[in-house]
Amino acid sequence: MSSGLDKNDIANKISKINKLTELESFRVQYVGKKGILTSEMKSLSTLSNAEKKEKGQYLNSIKIFLETELKKKKNFIENLEVNEKLKKEKIDITLPPRNYETGKIHPISQTIYNVIDIFGSMGFSVESGPDIESDFNNFTALNIPSHHPAREMQDTFYVENSSGDEEKVLRTHTSPVQVRHMLNSKPPIRIIVPGRTYRSDSDATHTPMFHQVEGLLIDNNSNMAHLKGCLIDFLKEFFNIDDLQYRFRPSYFPFTEPSAEMDVAYTKKDGVLKIGKGNEWLEILGCGMVNPRVLENCNIDSQKFQGFAFGMGIERLSMLKFGITDMRGFFDSDFRWLNHYGFNPLDSTSSSGI
Ligand code: PHE
Repeated sequence: MSSGLDKNDIANKISKINKLTELESFRVQYVGKKGILTSEMKSLSTLSNAEKKEKGQYLNSIKIFLETELKKKKNFIENLEVNEKLKKEKIDITLPPRNYETGKIHPISQTIYNVIDIFGSMGFSVESGPDIESDFNNFTALNIPSHHPAREMQDTFYVENSSGDEEKVLRTHTSPVQVRHMLNSKPPIRIIVPGRTYRSDSDATHTPMFHQVEGLLIDNNSNMAHLKGCLIDFLKEFFNIDDLQYRFRPSYFPFTEPSAEMDVAYTKKDGVLKIGKGNEWLEILGCGMVNPRVLENCNIDSQKFQGFAFGMGIERLSMLKFGITDMRGFFDSDFRWLNHYGFNPLDSTSSSGI
């Protein structure tokens, strides 16, 4: 018999193969168009009948043997490859999970949401204005003329002005939005204005940029009693203290007359402030009846209309409500601070969208 067509020899060769590509070339070598077995089959026609029968049977058995061996080996190699892949791609469930950070709501934002929720339920809508304001909106319209000593209460940053236009400032309070709103709409007005404000100040209780919320209510007959009721309700709700102790203290603002500041009582124990009751007083906001001059400056007839305004610092509200002691932490962008004092978005009770 021709060498290479021996079952043992074939089995031996196949056993040494361990790649599908090698197996394929082996197959071609035997049963391809010009393969060893194929040519032997072809040459059968030159033989005598008796030889043809004998050799034909033999070649057939080789062919069947070859086909089954090839198939077995193919399955074997394929299984091997799958197992190897599984081994390589196996997930190591003992690995610690990758850390993923969820954002937190900054206490300033949280406080603003709370304030909006409470005043929103009293019928106030939210307004906003630009951080860079005209001198007129920030001071003059609010009855603080240039060179008036009251300007010193609110020392600010002036924006360089090369065009000779009216001087611009970083707004020192949210009150200029009152002016914008009164110039653009008619009473009744009932707005609050949360936003960024700026003053040239920096220590543990002052930062050059801080936040205020302004309130303005103008109609035909609102008076000081309404102002008091509104602010008392707000603070009781904000601090969640029904019997909150407070007092109104006469004060001065050029844009309100009469003016007052509102204080809340507190106690300090082991360095921690407890708000609501006690013998100490903490100033929390400024307020008053809108000065008729401001109404006139904003084209509102002060004989027909009157109302009140108030303004308070968001940082202070936030520090008191959440027990934060140093104001500078608000703006350091320290992740540990934010993680500690921040709020989980899903825990937030606020429905406000800003
Ligand atoms: N704008 C004042 C301030 O920043 C606060 C205030 C607002 C007082 C409205 C009275 C009325 O100090």
